[in-house]
Amino acid sequence: MYLVTGATGGLGRRIVRSLREQDKPVRAFVRLSSNYTELENRGAEVFIGDLRQVRDLEKACQGVEYIISCHGSNETSGSAQDLDYRANIDLIEQAKANGVKHFVLISVLGADRNYQDAPVFKAKRAIEQALQKSGLNYTILRPSGFASNLLSAAKRFQQSGVYLLIGDPRGRTSIVSTDDLAQIAAAAPTTEAARNQMFAVGGPEILERGEVPKIFGRIFNREPILINPPLMAIDGIRNVLAFVNPELKASLGTFRTLLANDFYCTPAEVEAVESTFDIKMESLESFIRRYLST
Ligand SMILES: NC(=O)c1ccc[n+]([C@@H]2O[C@H](COP(=O)([O-])OP(=O)(O)OC[C@H]3O[C@@H](n4cnc5c(N)ncnc54)[C@H](OP(=O)(O)O)[C@@H]3O)[C@@H](O)[C@H]2O)c1
Repeated sequence: MYLVTGATGGLGRRIVRSLREQDKPVRAFVRLSSNYTELENRGAEVFIGDLRQVRDLEKACQGVEYIISCHGSNETSGSAQDLDYRANIDLIEQAKANGVKHFVLISVLGADRNYQDAPVFKAKRAIEQALQKSGLNYTILRPSGFASNLLSAAKRFQQSGVYLLIGDPRGRTSIVSTDDLAQIAAAAPTTEAARNQMFAVGGPEILERGEVPKIFGRIFNREPILINPPLMAIDGIRNVLAFVNPELKASLGTFRTLLANDFYCTPAEVEAVESTFDIKMESLESFIRRYLST
């Protein structure tokens, strides 16, 4: 039995799909408030709970052989401390107690860069280290930004030609196909060469962020209208939030860090993933065309 946390998320639902397409038994950890009908329809066993409740984790881990942890915090779901760190520490404890054979952790590219103003990055690094010391078999995946995150921006672009890019258009990224990442995460527990390894996972090309609207322009045959506020716009919003919602201000530090820095994989890192998992990584253009081209 595979336990997938964050199973209703952009990545998690694709991991469940990938496992079910191979007829693997899956327990999908979901919240009652979330939409999990697709997971049920695909034959996953749905476990309703809250990852911040140890009792829920105890029950969810019973009889589990493999855990794929791909839940995460965001500006609305809870703190990095509670979800990216604490819930994973508790999951690791339950994995040990239940003799789990392999634990896959979805971390983030740059987790080891010691960004001080990015709670998610700090939590991911701490949990990577805890997993490495746990004695469990593990695979840690450090993805760059997901291509599926860009689908709504691409749809807006299709209608209006407008693309909002905050910060430096020359910032570099290797956006990863969320479908490729799901396939890799689903395969990791049974891929011998991935045991106790960490992989940076990105798309096949290093893009400047300013190239994204150009790619959309090619796909939808429109001239991009670029709206490009400086990073200072985020700083202004955060300064105001400091008075009204300090937690959101802290959480936006992760968002700012993502906008302010390069997040790309080297050709050698792409090659390591492709050869270990026998996969050819998909480009952003191909991903968007598959989902949105008519
Ligand atoms: N998105 C990216 O570009 C990116 C890049 C690098 C790394 N990552 C990492 O990749 C992983 C997956 O990201 P994603 O974008 O697919 O995440 P996502 O779409 O934001 O999904 C987060 C998932 O966590 C679940 N969750 C949150 N709080 C929960 C709680 N208290 N109890 C149970 N479930 C809870 C959510 O459930 P609900 O549906 O109920 O909200 C959802 O299924 C995360 O670890 C993230 O940090 C993401």
